[in-house]
Amino acid sequence: MKSKKLLAVISVLVLFLIVSFFTEKNEEKKEDVPTVGVLQFVSHPALDEIYRGIKDGLKESGYEDGKNLKIAFQNGQADQSKLATMSQQLIDKKSDVLIGIATPAAQALANSTSDIPIVLGAITDPVSAGLVETNEKPGRNITGVSDKSPVDAQFDLALELLPDAKSVGILYSSAEENSKYQAAEAEKAAKALGLTAKSYVVPSSNEIAQTVQVMSGEVDFIYIPTDNTIANAMQTVVNEANKSKTPIIPSVDTMVEEGGLATVGINQYELGVQTGKMAADILAGKSDPATTPIYTFETGDVIINEAQAKKLGLTIPENVVEDAKLVGTE
Ligand code: TRP
Repeated sequence: MKSKKLLAVISVLVLFLIVSFFTEKNEEKKEDVPTVGVLQFVSHPALDEIYRGIKDGLKESGYEDGKNLKIAFQNGQADQSKLATMSQQLIDKKSDVLIGIATPAAQALANSTSDIPIVLGAITDPVSAGLVETNEKPGRNITGVSDKSPVDAQFDLALELLPDAKSVGILYSSAEENSKYQAAEAEKAAKALGLTAKSYVVPSSNEIAQTVQVMSGEVDFIYIPTDNTIANAMQTVVNEANKSKTPIIPSVDTMVEEGGLATVGINQYELGVQTGKMAADILAGKSDPATTPIYTFETGDVIINEAQAKKLGLTIPENVVEDAKLVGTE
C-alpha cells in the first residue's frame, strides 16, 4: 500500500519535471525571437494599407511574423486617451522596436520611451510633431518615414480639373498636429494660385457631416489633408458633398477610391513597406535611429476617380488622363 502511494507521488513529480522542462524550453525559444510593437492610431483604408506594407517590408528583410519575429499590435480606434496605456503595453511586451502608425500614435510612443527605437509609419511632418530635431539627423531614438504630401502638385491638378474654381475649403480635425501643418501648406499653395482658401476645422467626427454641408454652400471644392479623423469618415464626407456636387481633392489614393475626385498621392502600401524595412535594419543592428534620416517620397501618382468625375459632370482633359491611374471605373 505504502509503495503504491510512493509510486504515485514519484510519478506526479516526474510528470511535473517533464512539463516544466518543456515549458521552460519554449519560453527560452520565445525570448530568442525579436518583438516589434506596432501602435496604429485608427483603422481607415490608408493606415490599414500601411500596416499591411509594414509586415511585408519586414518579411522582405528576413523577419516574418510567427516565424522569426513576433508582432505585438494595438489599435487606438481613434481614441487618443487610449494611446498612452497601449504604448506601455507594447513596452511591457519587451518590444525591441516600436512602430507608430500616424502622428498621434507616434507621439504617444515617443512620450513613453526614450530608449527603445521608434520607427515612424507615415508621419506628415516629424519636426512640427515634436518627434525629431531635423529630418536629416533625428537625434534621438526615433527615425522613420514621412508621407508629406506633394501639396503644390495636388493644387495644380485641382485647377486643371476645375479651371473655374475660385475658392477652396480645407477640412481637417483640430486634434491632429499633422493636419495643422498640411493645412497651412495648402493655404499657401491655394493662395499662390489665386484661390481664396478657408479652413474648416472640426473638433471631432460628430461635426463632419454638418461642416461639409456648410462648406458645400461656401466653396468651389474641398481639400482634405492626410487627416485620420476625416479619412475615417470619408463616406460621410462624400455623401454630403455629392448632394451639392462639390468636388473633393483629398491627399491619398485610398480617399480617391472612396469618392474623392483626384489627387497626386503617395502609395500607402509602399509607405508601409519602407517603414518595415527601416524597422528591420534597426533590429539587425544595421542602423541607429539618431543618425538615420527620415525617408521622404519625392513624387506621387496621379489618381482619378472616373465614376466620380462623371457624377460631377466633369470631363478630364486627355493629357491628364494619359498619365493617371484611374480608379472607380464603371
Ligand atoms: N500622415 C498621417 C499622420 O501623420 C497618417 C496618414 C498616412 C494618413 N496616410 C494617411 C492620414 C491617409 C489620412 C489619410 O498622422
